[in-house]
Amino acid sequence: MGRRKFIGVVSCLAVLMACWPGRVSWAQATGLAPTPPMGWNSWDHYRFKISDSLIRAQAQALVDSGMKAAGYEYVVIDGGWEGFHDATGFFRPNILKFPDMKALCDYIHSLGLKVGIHTTPGPVTCSGREGSYGHEDQDAETFAHWGIDFVKYDWCSGGTVYKPDQIQEAYQKMHQALLRTGRPILYSLCEYGMADVWKWAPSVGGNMWRTTGDISDNYLLMDHIGFEQNGLEKYAGPGHWNDPDMLDVGNGGMTEEEYRTQMSLWSILAAPLFASNDLTDMSSEALAILTNREVIAVDQDPSGVQGCQVWEEGPKEIWMKPLADGGKAVGLFNRNEAAMTITLNFKDIGVQAPAKVRDLWQHKDLGTVDGSYSAIVPRHGVVMLKIDK
Ligand code: GLA
Repeated sequence: MGRRKFIGVVSCLAVLMACWPGRVSWAQATGLAPTPPMGWNSWDHYRFKISDSLIRAQAQALVDSGMKAAGYEYVVIDGGWEGFHDATGFFRPNILKFPDMKALCDYIHSLGLKVGIHTTPGPVTCSGREGSYGHEDQDAETFAHWGIDFVKYDWCSGGTVYKPDQIQEAYQKMHQALLRTGRPILYSLCEYGMADVWKWAPSVGGNMWRTTGDISDNYLLMDHIGFEQNGLEKYAGPGHWNDPDMLDVGNGGMTEEEYRTQMSLWSILAAPLFASNDLTDMSSEALAILTNREVIAVDQDPSGVQGCQVWEEGPKEIWMKPLADGGKAVGLFNRNEAAMTITLNFKDIGVQAPAKVRDLWQHKDLGTVDGSYSAIVPRHGVVMLKIDK
């Protein structure tokens, strides 16, 4: 192992040790997002083509498909719902598409789910519709009145009214407004990773924050965003999570192997898991990927430690996330254009003795193994393991 790699592995393990349970953050104390939030978001599949009936259908499908039972909880109405602020300054939805937001929220709550909404600190949203600038308190009150449980605060036109060094101030303003409502509302920051958001997001109440620009249903972009997350692990934990953006599983632009890669990597990263496909028309393969409980358990592990890369050799990478039960979730990732054999040396994940190996996609115990484990990993694919003493 080269010196750089050795230092990388040691520093990754050191961070994981420092992140081990015992830490109590301010966000933990609020009780929101003790594990990475899970749900569905309208954006990647529907863009602005959303309406009350569409959101209701997706919420119902979240329940009927078994996704809710697997842990998906928030139904996030992303950009496209906004109307304008009326003469009294209160935010009205586009009533042609969303005639009654409170009734919609009540309906979603009646399914045992929670509701999210999108707005911006700027005067206009990314689609040019009205944003929350100058209306922060009224908008927070309106959201609380409707029964909103999650606000995605998306920078969009923020730069037209705030200077670069005022980003924190802008996010703090909505945080205070949300606090004043007295309703527990999960706060999701979206400013694409500017100004090292991970360093200050918890101090402005962020329960999750986007670390990158927008993802889309494309392998190269997903691969770039996902594997770029290495190094951010020390900023995540119960109540406050790095967010590499939505899951595109089921949207059709990637292969099954590639979608398994996204689901596995996001789970090792302890990332929020927001599906963004059409839940009313989902293949059994997409559903199986999104609801793999063994993989979801890695993401939702109560220790709340974000995993990181422990080894790499060209396009072969091994990532590891330590789990509360003492086990280790390990992803053998092949970023190459052809299948490759990847060998996990137990010493790279701090395992000195023979250990039990289980394959989390095959749902199969592979026996007790000593020292190392090798697998053929398909192109752009993953073999995801749990290693237990
Ligand atoms: C930005 C965000 C996306 C989505 C759109 C909506 O691009 O990053 O996630 O919210 O705005 O306009």
